[in-house]
Amino acid sequence: MIKHDVLIVGAGLAGMRAALEVCKELDVGLLTKVYPSRSHSGAAQGGIAAALGNSEEDSWEEHMFDTVKGGDYLSDQDAVEEYVKAAPRIIYELEHMGCAFSRTEDGKIAQRSFGGHSKPRACFSADRTGHAILHALHEQVLKNAKSIKIYSEWYMHQLVIEEGRCSGVVVSDIRTGEVEVIHAKAVIFATGGYGRVFKITTNAFASTADGAMAAFHAGIPLEDPEFVQFHPSGLYRQGILFSEAARGEGGYLLNGNGDRFMEQYAPSRMELAPRDIVARAEQSEIDAGRGVNGEACIHLDLRHLGEARIMERLPQIRQLGIDFIGVDCVKDPLPIQPSAHYSMGGIPTDMHGQVVIDGDGTPMEGFFAAGECACVSVHGANRLGTNSLLEATVFGERTGRSALEYAKNAEFGKINESHEKARVLNQIEEIFQRDGSESYNDIRNEMKEVMMDKCGVFRDADNLKSCVAAIQGLKERCKKGKVTDKGQLFNTEVYEIIELGNMLEMAEIIATAALARQESRGGHYRTDFPKRDDQEFLKHTLVYPKNGELELKHRPVVITRYQPKERTY
Ligand code: FUM
Repeated sequence: MIKHDVLIVGAGLAGMRAALEVCKELDVGLLTKVYPSRSHSGAAQGGIAAALGNSEEDSWEEHMFDTVKGGDYLSDQDAVEEYVKAAPRIIYELEHMGCAFSRTEDGKIAQRSFGGHSKPRACFSADRTGHAILHALHEQVLKNAKSIKIYSEWYMHQLVIEEGRCSGVVVSDIRTGEVEVIHAKAVIFATGGYGRVFKITTNAFASTADGAMAAFHAGIPLEDPEFVQFHPSGLYRQGILFSEAARGEGGYLLNGNGDRFMEQYAPSRMELAPRDIVARAEQSEIDAGRGVNGEACIHLDLRHLGEARIMERLPQIRQLGIDFIGVDCVKDPLPIQPSAHYSMGGIPTDMHGQVVIDGDGTPMEGFFAAGECACVSVHGANRLGTNSLLEATVFGERTGRSALEYAKNAEFGKINESHEKARVLNQIEEIFQRDGSESYNDIRNEMKEVMMDKCGVFRDADNLKSCVAAIQGLKERCKKGKVTDKGQLFNTEVYEIIELGNMLEMAEIIATAALARQESRGGHYRTDFPKRDDQEFLKHTLVYPKNGELELKHRPVVITRYQPKERTY
């Protein structure tokens, strides 16, 4: 059996930042299903927020207020305060690790505007910020190779929980197909989100809810899963991200009539309103028949910025447009549509990254989570752009520190290795034994379609009920599929089937929680309940597994400085 003091699953920003903290004193296993520098954190382009005040005076209080208001008052404010206060230190630390930030004329870290932020506080590396930070952290991890062992292209199947404590995980080496148990004093999940549940998404292929579902299968609830963010500028039909930096630099959104329609929806912030508002505005224009050329897209127009500025600040956007649709944004506008981008919900944790299993904050000993897979919750009902790279690094560090302190004082827990292995081997064997005629690809496509149509930017009870029923039907059909590759070596087909199972369960959880929340708040908009209802719903959702069904409970929101008020822009 493989053993590490601390085992981290996921090697994006949160996982690698946590590893760098733990490795100061203990030995770390860092397990990832894709090579670390291919993690989805690399797709976040436009910036990382911190009140440095390099272009305009700024303060952590303003950053905190913008975050809480942006989150439609569902954020836990004690956690937000810690988070925004840590931001400047985290940025300078990344800089000292080698992250190449863009600069002002006088050599300071440059900062640009972003949606919902009242000050320019996005520190950036052109439009490749996530990529730049990911590589800086990866270099640091490689520098610490003596105490961080990387398991690249390994798949995490399940948590091992014995006597109420997490003592490891069961995994497969994708190359050999070998199933192994990894014994650890503490486990950190940094497994990312679940945008692949939706048809049009900015998310990488790896964002399939593996971490969330492994926790859920161990009896741990998922918090606020109904809050999914749709990014306003995914490439039409494909979802590939055109960074919000494009609007931060002054880009316009135009409908099919050539109008800057944001004037009607958020007159004071226009294209730089928070994402939930911009995505709804775009969808409203499209639904009203004002899409471009009658299609379900609108235009992102950057032509007035000029080639020099585009090449300095937005070179990746230009290249993506040229490579994927043959459109050069220097000369022509880009067709875009709202695309599933970020999961505000996830595995519930306290502000130290400790996973909790109920509204009283009862810890699941030995189990920690950070980054998009976790729900701290700093983003509440809607995350502001650039706050996710910050969350991953701030809470990656904090969670690493908590796991380190825990593991320093803990013994290895119990593990029944053969029993744990058998659970996974039986699951794989059951997939091999299925001899039906259903196509997993069709099931996956239908899930994505139904989630996009019935549980997307706009929702209502009828659509959500039929969404839940459709997903339940797809879960049944999944049992009647047939695998074509029954080999052990690099059998990616079998992992895709397991991922599909995870996504179907996650889809049902999202739609069920969305049906229960009879109000509109942040990224969750109910056309049949268009108002926010603080009386009934100023609370977090907790979804539990119960005898094969879902049980919904709640926990209160932590409000410290800012009382909820009407959210206008
Ligand atoms: O549009 C973007 O650059 C995305 C950034 C984010 O989600 O924080």
